[in-house]
Amino acid sequence: MRPARVDYDAVAHLYDTTPHRTKPIDPELLSFIVRRATPADISVLDVGCGTGNQLIANRSIPTCVRMVGLDRSSGMLHQARLKAPEIAWVQADGSVLPFRADSFDFVTCQFALHHINDKAGMLREVFRVLRRGGRLVVRNVCPQDSPDWLFYDYFPESQTIDLEDFWSPENVTAQLDRAGFDAVDVEREHLHFAQDLRAWFDEVRQRATCSQLLAISDAGYQAGMRRLTDELAARSEPLLRENHLCLVTIRGNKTAGPSASSKAQSDINGRREPGGEGPAPSSSAALDIPGSQRRSPS
Ligand SMILES: C[S@@+](CC[C@H](N)C(=O)[O-])C[C@H]1O[C@@H](n2cnc3c(N)ncnc32)[C@H](O)[C@@H]1O
Repeated sequence: MRPARVDYDAVAHLYDTTPHRTKPIDPELLSFIVRRATPADISVLDVGCGTGNQLIANRSIPTCVRMVGLDRSSGMLHQARLKAPEIAWVQADGSVLPFRADSFDFVTCQFALHHINDKAGMLREVFRVLRRGGRLVVRNVCPQDSPDWLFYDYFPESQTIDLEDFWSPENVTAQLDRAGFDAVDVEREHLHFAQDLRAWFDEVRQRATCSQLLAISDAGYQAGMRRLTDELAARSEPLLRENHLCLVTIRGNKTAGPSASSKAQSDINGRREPGGEGPAPSSSAALDIPGSQRRSPS
């Protein structure tokens, strides 16, 4: 197992300092809610929730009665707890979810899957904790379809690392199929924009606020910053560069029990209980978030 590329405990206090960290209400969750056959209260889990911005934005959805944010980093969860003590924040690894089977209706994982070593285990675990009729939505950068992202141009080491760490959408969908999900679907969003290099310089000089920059060597970071500094020094007028980033959203539903293939796979792994509901957490670790942690209507 490779060690974590980024020490999120060390940078947690800086994570929310860049404006792009704020989030609107999750459109994927809204679309899941409006398409449900019967309107009902729902439970939401955010795996790799970080400082909690997504669940905090979701608080205004009246049917979202139970929200749980899970993250490996106690520092990130500390920031989340300061902002929203009424939400349940749980420290655990995303591949070993300390919840009973059939606990959640909607699970999201945003910009975090690449950090999880056992991704297949995480996807199996999400399938186990989802209720029938539930949905998982994974959202992330897609390095395979972002070869001309400026980060990769100026900091090429980050492209090598991302291509190692991020599963391709095809790989994620194959694993979702194997875990038992159906109606698996992939949507790519290509963001093309003109990047003002001076503004970008101000962004990337704050290395601690970007995991792509934290993951690379000091030499690789300094080389990119030197190139950027030299280019900016040579010009006084605004310097615009074409930029392109592909984001990917991958959805999977749990409409039935585990598929034959996922049962076979987990039998091979020796992880599934005879009852077929996946690896049961040890009773001491199993969290059944009580009603007291429900969000009170605001
Ligand atoms: C880039 S941040 C994304 C946070 C949040 N989802 C967002 O969109 O702002 C990645 C998060 O994944 C968490 N993480 C890394 N490895 C993890 C693991 N194995 N299990 C759970 N969370 C993990 C990190 O602590 C960090 O908070």
